[in-house]
Amino acid sequence: MTVDLSVDVAGVRLPTPVMAASGCFGFGRELSGFVDLAGLGAVVTKSVSLEPRRGRPTPRMAETPSGMLNAIGLQNPGVEAYCERELPFLADAGARVVTSIVGHTPAEFAQVAARLAREDAVDLLEVNLSCPNVDHRGEVFATSPEAATEVIAAVKAVAGQPVLAKLTADVTDIVAVARAVVEAGADGLVCINTLLGMAVDVRARRPKLAAVTGGLSGPAIRPVAVRCTWQVATALPEVPVIGTGGITTAEDAAEFLLAGATAVAVGTGNFADPEATTAVTTGLRELLAAGGLGSVPELTATFKGGA
Ligand SMILES: Cc1cc2nc3c(=O)[nH]c(=O)nc-3n(C[C@H](O)[C@H](O)[C@H](O)COP(=O)(O)O)c2cc1C
Repeated sequence: MTVDLSVDVAGVRLPTPVMAASGCFGFGRELSGFVDLAGLGAVVTKSVSLEPRRGRPTPRMAETPSGMLNAIGLQNPGVEAYCERELPFLADAGARVVTSIVGHTPAEFAQVAARLAREDAVDLLEVNLSCPNVDHRGEVFATSPEAATEVIAAVKAVAGQPVLAKLTADVTDIVAVARAVVEAGADGLVCINTLLGMAVDVRARRPKLAAVTGGLSGPAIRPVAVRCTWQVATALPEVPVIGTGGITTAEDAAEFLLAGATAVAVGTGNFADPEATTAVTTGLRELLAAGGLGSVPELTATFKGGA
């Protein structure tokens, strides 16, 4: 049977619902030898800031059970170099491009979005709200509905592309933040960024990461990410949700789609297997065909959950 994997995310048609998650695929160049970038739903880029950033000191990664901790610190070449050097590569490869943006203040997020508004090769913006707000004692934007609203409103005022807001599960009520950013104009939501974690090297008697704490990702966080996706998609059924957290197989991806996601993104899975996005896409096509389902919405409609 023919399976149509294409999905619509905030008015942008993607050939498949399987994207590469931010920070786990660089700017596509490194992985292009393994994956046909045009065959992906989209490439979500490493988060891009106004000025170049060098990132955090090493060690920046530590393996943990069924996952990993990272404190890379948003290393990137800055928006100008991104537009000059990285974006043309992605465009030439025929990829749909979701540019992840980051800033120290709402105004800085807006400056990055305004620069990207001139770039036709960018299909969507993803706003990385999991970073400290320098105006508010380093409070992470995504943990406050008010701070997240300020960023999304500032970005929407200048954006040339639809805007996705990336949420964190490190909050008591993720739906409250989701509602706030949608009211501020977000066209879609991404659930979830890494969870804040820490690991200690008992022999050396110090934290495994130089930054002490870091973001936990991989299969260890999948049930949390699926729960967030389900809560947000149920509360805001009109808003597309991109599910991400611990996806390594087609079944993992289907979990998110059944829980209400419109599309998914594979992050840490790319480190273990650079062809993970292709394997998930192929497997999803087979999974749908085996269930007699012709499209992703047909799969989503079969979900028997509820509360
Ligand atoms: C090494 C690494 C770097 C990341 N960098 C970013 C980033 O720059 N911006 C962002 O929004 N998310 C970043 N993330 C978070 C991922 O995009 C994703 O939301 C999270 O890791 C959960 O998915 P996963 O379990 O499939 O990795 C990063 C994750 C990892 C592991």
